[in-house]
Amino acid sequence: MPVTLTWTGHATWLVETGAGRLVVDPFFDECPTASMKAADVTCDAILVTHGHFDHVADLVSIAKRTGAKVLCTFEIAQWLGKHGVANTLAMNLGGQAAVPGGTAKMEIAWHSSSLPDGTYGGNPAGWLLDVGGARIYFAGDTALFSDMERIGRPHGGRGLDVAVLPIGDCFTMGPDDAVEAVRLLKPTLALPNHYGTWPPIEQDGAAWAAKVREAKLADAKVLVPGESVRIG
Ligand code: NI
Ligand code: MN
Repeated sequence: MPVTLTWTGHATWLVETGAGRLVVDPFFDECPTASMKAADVTCDAILVTHGHFDHVADLVSIAKRTGAKVLCTFEIAQWLGKHGVANTLAMNLGGQAAVPGGTAKMEIAWHSSSLPDGTYGGNPAGWLLDVGGARIYFAGDTALFSDMERIGRPHGGRGLDVAVLPIGDCFTMGPDDAVEAVRLLKPTLALPNHYGTWPPIEQDGAAWAAKVREAKLADAKVLVPGESVRIG
């Protein structure tokens, strides 16, 4: 069963696993580049990397309307509870849980995490998915870190099919460090995100993808918001 990944803009992704739809970091209505509105999102589970507004702005409304289970840190789960979202799975770094079509593991990320009202969000995270026969890594907001080599190591003889990486700089790693991340992760396909949304993170995604391909590190594709790729 092919897995479909759709970028809706910024750091928000829809993952069709064949057994359900996951949303990563729901940020739609206030995202200047979003391809859809929060009210039109349907999903079975929501994965959250950290508490910053550009990753959770539409989390409460979508979670309440859809009833989808939210996988997030313990601290974000507590905060969601106070906002009337009960269907959460409180996790922490290193934890793995079942999602429709496979599993999701909460990986490390070097960043910060507070919720829009200032509440501490726990550690920031990345997500390593094994769904529908595909291994997909969402780095979340992070600096480059050498454990990416470990995250990319083959598991059961299978390396990463896809690595989704921030290239925006300023708040996360920039283009050069993101190329190094691809070198460490060794995915088949690298997809850039978390750039082009606002002036501080303006970057040339096509130039970055060309650099990745020319260095023969991986295939790299630049999506426009609303565009999908099929894996497998
Ligand atoms: Ni952030
Ligand atoms: Mn961010």
